[in-house]
Amino acid sequence: MKCVDDFRLRFGKRELVPIMIGGMGVDISTAELALEAARLGGVGHISDAMISTVSDRRFKTGFVKEKQKQYKYNVANIDKSAVKFDLGQIEEATRLHVGRTMEAKRGEGMIFINCMEKLTMNAPRETLQVRLSAALDAGIDGITLSAGLHLGSFALIEDHPRFRDAKLGIIVSSLRALQLFLRKNARLKRLPDFIVVEGPLAGGHLGFGLDDWWKYDLATITAEVIAYLKQEQLDIPVIPAGGIFTGSDAVGFLENGAACVQVATRFTVAQECGLPEKVQQEYFKASEDDIVVNGVSPTGYPMRMLKNCPAIGAGIRPNCEAYGYLLDANGHCAYIDAYYREVAAHPGAKEIHVYDKTCLCTHMRNFDCWTCGHYTYRLKDTTRKLADGSYQILTAEHIFKDYQFSKDGKIALPE
Ligand SMILES: Cc1cc2nc3c(=O)[nH]c(=O)nc-3n(C[C@H](O)[C@H](O)[C@H](O)COP(=O)(O)O)c2cc1C
Repeated sequence: MKCVDDFRLRFGKRELVPIMIGGMGVDISTAELALEAARLGGVGHISDAMISTVSDRRFKTGFVKEKQKQYKYNVANIDKSAVKFDLGQIEEATRLHVGRTMEAKRGEGMIFINCMEKLTMNAPRETLQVRLSAALDAGIDGITLSAGLHLGSFALIEDHPRFRDAKLGIIVSSLRALQLFLRKNARLKRLPDFIVVEGPLAGGHLGFGLDDWWKYDLATITAEVIAYLKQEQLDIPVIPAGGIFTGSDAVGFLENGAACVQVATRFTVAQECGLPEKVQQEYFKASEDDIVVNGVSPTGYPMRMLKNCPAIGAGIRPNCEAYGYLLDANGHCAYIDAYYREVAAHPGAKEIHVYDKTCLCTHMRNFDCWTCGHYTYRLKDTTRKLADGSYQILTAEHIFKDYQFSKDGKIALPE
């Protein structure tokens, strides 16, 4: 019986352990977590979601305060179209986050940045262009374009000197999405260097419908993508993601032609992960019934989360003057509408509850939106229960090596 370590992910002459830790926004996949993946010979991700907040936390910059101060006059205004990001600050925050991470990198692995294109930031094109260019400037090994895949994103950086040398990949949830992307980008003569196929059991946002996500199956979509690339004679590594919980699950995909696997949920309970330990204990405690896919994300994509997380039903005033990452090109966010609808329906109420949407920026910033993968309820089987009833937090190295070397569906418990 084989283990993951019997396989290698090949990028040209470079060989890596075929384990990629997926991007988890707002600094859940921290630099520390990505650095461990790289040190151990795999691929780690940082994320550029809410980059100003991440920079303020890591480097004591004051970007969020400055923006909030500039737009303070607009806080009670339902119209957020005036609230713009300062492109210079986005660039500086990205350079700091990426640059310092890359300086600290050790080992043979690589570090990529996950760019969620659905973070439209009230100027989708301009802000994405700055985010991508600054990450390349600061030396990131690669970029993974995720949620909201805009077919024109490669073109935004086609003149960047690193456009052909950095690893650029995309996340898709169907063969159709991949075909559209390839068709749209044919003129650039620059194929993606890797394709992450994300299935319906993943954490974060899902690329499926709210009502029918459960009908899809990662192995089937992955096989379709691999067969299509073969037929087109395109040699691009395919990386399935979503519900790959053990090394043996991963081997199943690698034996069927995948080049690597992308995993995340198991690492949400690592010391190096950005989630506070209190939240990590909630992940450990969760039962299968506690995990839901709902429509509360203003992005319009279904999202998986723990149903007891504080983000659901909270009715806070929209915080777009400080954050505003989900504002579309016209300054709209679905949460603003939902919030003001409830305010109008409950005149004079001290507390407002909004159940159909959530202020995702604020709650992700505060680690109050407990997004997670489908198999979160199995995390308790990956560690030991301590005398006080809590669960032992793991090291990223322990989890990584368990994926790399385990066989027979086994999961190694920590010392
Ligand atoms: C807590 C959490 C946050 C996530 N955030 C993002 C994100 O910001 N962007 C993204 O592309 N994927 C995100 N994902 C998806 C992962 O990168 C990954 O593809 C997927 O969860 C892998 O499946 P697994 O969690 O079952 O291992 C997130 C996953 C989790 C568990």
